Amino acid sequence: MDEFRFIDRSCSNAEKYTLREKLFHTKNIQPMWVADMDFATPVCVLHAVQERLLHPILGYEIMPDTAYAAQISWVRKHHGFEMHREWLSYSPSVVASIGCAIRALSEIGDEVIVMDPVYPPFYSMVRDNDRHLVLHPLKEDEKGIYRFDIDALRAQITPKTKLLLLCSPHNPIGRVWSRDELLVLGTLCLEHGIRIISDEIHSDIVYKPHIHIPMASLSRELLMNTITLIGPGKTFNMAGFSISTVCIASDELRAQYEKERQRFHFGDGAVVSHIAFEAAYSYGDVWHQKLMEYLACNVQKIEGWMQEHPMIKFRPPEATYLGWFDCRTLALGDRELREFFVQKAGLGLSPGLSFGKEGSGYMRLNFAVPASVLDNALQRLSGAIHG
Ligand SMILES: Cc1ncc(COP(=O)(O)O)c(C=O)c1O
Repeated sequence: MDEFRFIDRSCSNAEKYTLREKLFHTKNIQPMWVADMDFATPVCVLHAVQERLLHPILGYEIMPDTAYAAQISWVRKHHGFEMHREWLSYSPSVVASIGCAIRALSEIGDEVIVMDPVYPPFYSMVRDNDRHLVLHPLKEDEKGIYRFDIDALRAQITPKTKLLLLCSPHNPIGRVWSRDELLVLGTLCLEHGIRIISDEIHSDIVYKPHIHIPMASLSRELLMNTITLIGPGKTFNMAGFSISTVCIASDELRAQYEKERQRFHFGDGAVVSHIAFEAAYSYGDVWHQKLMEYLACNVQKIEGWMQEHPMIKFRPPEATYLGWFDCRTLALGDRELREFFVQKAGLGLSPGLSFGKEGSGYMRLNFAVPASVLDNALQRLSGAIHG
């Protein structure tokens, strides 16, 4: 598919490529770490931005209601969740929103529940804002499906536990939390007065038959107890536009969040980002469907490869374009495992340990690449294993 053809990124400032030497001490690797895609952003987005640039004035602008309306329609159509315009505000980054929400809804010294393994800024946002981490380990069940343990989690709660930082769907393990799981978790939070910050940035990269259910859509009580963070960055490969939204239905929580937000002067975003955001949510549906088909083929490719290489295990993700490779059978320490991938296979992946203690022995591979690049990466990995 032409939409997902190979494009050289080494000549742009792409983080994934630019930081190769710093992180892997060599340029001679295929970078498969940062969670963006090596595919062109949808043409509808590029055209809208090009058209806007024909107007020569790029001064301050505000995010138009039509842009919010486009996201509201997308979320209604794809996730059955009815957001209202007044619940939404602009944010330059989901991670920044996490930090802002932590500061708004808890005090210094309070406890925040985070599930391990998880996207690393979940830890740093808690620590850097002088809150305490309550680490809840996610464990694989007999089918290799990661689960939280609700009784163990209940036992971890103290009067100082004020927030749950939820990753839904969950990076790096690729879980789409089921309705039952979300209800159990949400109910526990309601019982203990714990507010939920639900990072749903990966909610559109979900494979059939799984469906993403927004935590806030489960009940009136959970709607009023949840701050939902969403954006087009992952869905349409447009993280470089630095645009996302924060959805808060409760007037009380919104006022607390807004007060904190004012302290940082997030502003209302960039001219081209508003345009890109609206175009993506308005016209990106067909591209997104093709993307999901393409990614599903890449998942199958990896599954096929794994059947011939049982020393690395991989459960197809329910969501995200991130493969969570269980490399424990290789019996290497975490440092040796990383070196094995870089030096022997020439691949730059994210080490499992960077996602927390529970990630030890795992590597995360970003498979949102053209099929030819994935084939090549898997061949390199075969060579490293057998060489
Ligand atoms: C779970 C999760 N949240 C947030 C982000 C980053 O969002 P932003 O670039 O809007 O800060 C990522 C990027 O990988 C992510 O995986």
